[in-house]
Amino acid sequence: MKEKLIKAAKKARTRAYVPYSNFAVGAAVLTESGQVYTGCNIENAAYPVTCCAERVAIFNALANGDSAFVEFAVVADTERPVPPCGSCRQVMSEFFDPNMKIHLTNRNEQTKTVTLEALLPFSFNADDMD
Ligand code: THU
Repeated sequence: MKEKLIKAAKKARTRAYVPYSNFAVGAAVLTESGQVYTGCNIENAAYPVTCCAERVAIFNALANGDSAFVEFAVVADTERPVPPCGSCRQVMSEFFDPNMKIHLTNRNEQTKTVTLEALLPFSFNADDMD
């Protein structure tokens, strides 16, 4: 499944809208039903409005009524396996199990697989508001 997700993320990356950074990112998430939802980064002339590939993939699944996430992949043209930004890690923590596998891949197909817990330890979540 790792390879399938990376392939889907690479394909999504080709659709990135990145006229400002020229840095294309692709992401793909698998759900329990076997469905794969993809995302690419979509930039805006008002720079902070930009949405990262990871969040687009997660929001794509949610918008399709599917939130049973099981595995995730992200791909970019980086030297090391691409590290997701802090905002995306926080969004992952809202929806992913702490042990969920996240595959980080770079231009040479070097892949580092981490858990959400490793990416964002001691994260703020809904329980903290009880
Ligand atoms: N970006 C992502 O899509 N995911 C990441 O993990 C890192 C950053 C995007 C946002 C922006 O379009 C471009 O990469 C440069 O920051």
